[in-house]
Amino acid sequence: TDTVDRAFESLDAGDPVLVHDAADREGETDLIYHADAVSPEAVARLRNDAGGLVCVALGHEVAESFELPFYTEEVDHPATGSHDLGYDERSSFSLTVNHRDTYTGITDNDRSRTIRALGSAAATPEETAFADEFRVPGHVHLLKAAPDLLEQREGHTELGVALAEAAALPPAVVVCEMLDDETGEALSSADARAYAERHGFTYLEGRNILERLG
Ligand code: 5RP
Ligand code: ZN
Ligand code: CA
Ligand code: ZN
Repeated sequence: TDTVDRAFESLDAGDPVLVHDAADREGETDLIYHADAVSPEAVARLRNDAGGLVCVALGHEVAESFELPFYTEEVDHPATGSHDLGYDERSSFSLTVNHRDTYTGITDNDRSRTIRALGSAAATPEETAFADEFRVPGHVHLLKAAPDLLEQREGHTELGVALAEAAALPPAVVVCEMLDDETGEALSSADARAYAERHGFTYLEGRNILERLG
């Protein structure tokens, strides 16, 4: 089977996939799970093996139905004014959240609780009273996909949400950058690929996804 088909199967089975965006973009590989599959053990893998920021990317319409804004649009502070990034037009950051049943929100159990609840909420947005279920701010960063997904932006946010949608899963995925403890930089794509091979995980290039779903 094709590597994109394997990614659908992995996400559906609750296994992670690795996605390297592009050398001329961030040049980062994110470890990605469907939100429903993020057990406390998966959170431990994200912080120990990936090491970046643990975020949940939501489809645009789902985020809108929860009244989740882009951070830069809603926070009126001088530093959000000029949003200059070297690798894209704008970031996909929205708010940060914790499930109301969490205590501090940061433990593996608490983050798993929040992330899985986001997965269920994305499956049935019309039945979700977001503010009753989640509090802001929290310890899970939300990312909001572009309205026209891959036609507008080619970030991990959109790549991950597009994979979930094409796999017929609710549009909620966890993404976390793979970092290199030795160099202090992003993990190289060669090392990310080797990690995937060691663990039997699917590794994809952003262009594999864009060619199939873009
Ligand atoms: C949040 C990020 C990551 O790069 C994440 O992959 C989402 O961003 P993008 O859609 O821009 O790739 O910065 O930790
Ligand atoms: Zn990033
Ligand atoms: Ca580590
Ligand atoms: Zn990214």
